Amino acid sequence: MNAQPVIQLQNIKKIFLTEDVETSALDNINLSIEPGEYVAITGPSGCGKSTLLSVMGLLHSASSGTYILNGKEVTGLGAVEQARVRNRDIGFIFQAFNLISDMSAFENVELPLTYRSDLTKKQRHELVDAALAQVAMTERRKHYPTQLSGGQQQRVAIARALAGSPRVLLADEPTGNLDSKNAQLTMELLDTLHGQGSTIVMVTHDPRFAERAGRQIALFDGKIVEDRQYRAVAPTPIAATVA
Ligand SMILES: Nc1ncnc2c1ncn2[C@@H]1O[C@H](COP(=O)(O)OP(=O)(O)O)[C@@H](O)[C@H]1O
Ligand SMILES: [Mg+2]
Repeated sequence: MNAQPVIQLQNIKKIFLTEDVETSALDNINLSIEPGEYVAITGPSGCGKSTLLSVMGLLHSASSGTYILNGKEVTGLGAVEQARVRNRDIGFIFQAFNLISDMSAFENVELPLTYRSDLTKKQRHELVDAALAQVAMTERRKHYPTQLSGGQQQRVAIARALAGSPRVLLADEPTGNLDSKNAQLTMELLDTLHGQGSTIVMVTHDPRFAERAGRQIALFDGKIVEDRQYRAVAPTPIAATVA
């Protein structure tokens, strides 16, 4: 296990151009995230949280600056290579779950793995089974998203994010569409995954949830205004060794 940071952002800027309006969504972000960290990103609406997570997840590219993922610069990668890295190294969890409605829970979890040429069908199915078991959704693996509660859909989405043992799980307001009980269950699941060694970056505007992370980063107007470490990182990162 190498000790290099999972994520290094250096002087990252993101400017959105829409008609006559220029928005500086990220303004000179410098940030390093170590394996096994659990980081909460907080700040008011519109301050750049989702943009920051999208840059980390290679869903958006930065306007300028350098992004190093697992020691490898990914800033200038072409679309195909970027998609490959994203699929292999990043697990994304969205507020709106983003499951595909005409696929079962099993098929949703399997989908990103089907783009992985290094896995046989048998290996793929084993990874899906393991991920569904991890989120306690084995019994509902044949259900379609509309047949599942919001909390269950989010658990399937988490299984999809973690099935391929990504280097980092990125969660954008994962409890935003859930009632308080399911929000609590989702947070407990993230705690468990962190305890098992997953590196997690979670956007939340709920201070109670932010407090569960070992480190809190506050954004304001696209800038980091606070970066506080509370707890040491988890002892044994396993996320990268399961495959
Ligand atoms: N695709 C986009 N096109 C234009 N402006 C955008 C886009 N995405 C985000 N923005 C702007 O960037 C700023 C940061 O947005 P966002 O990262 O979504 O904030 P947060 O997630 O903290 O609410 C906002 O001013 C928003 O309007
Ligand atoms: Mg957002």
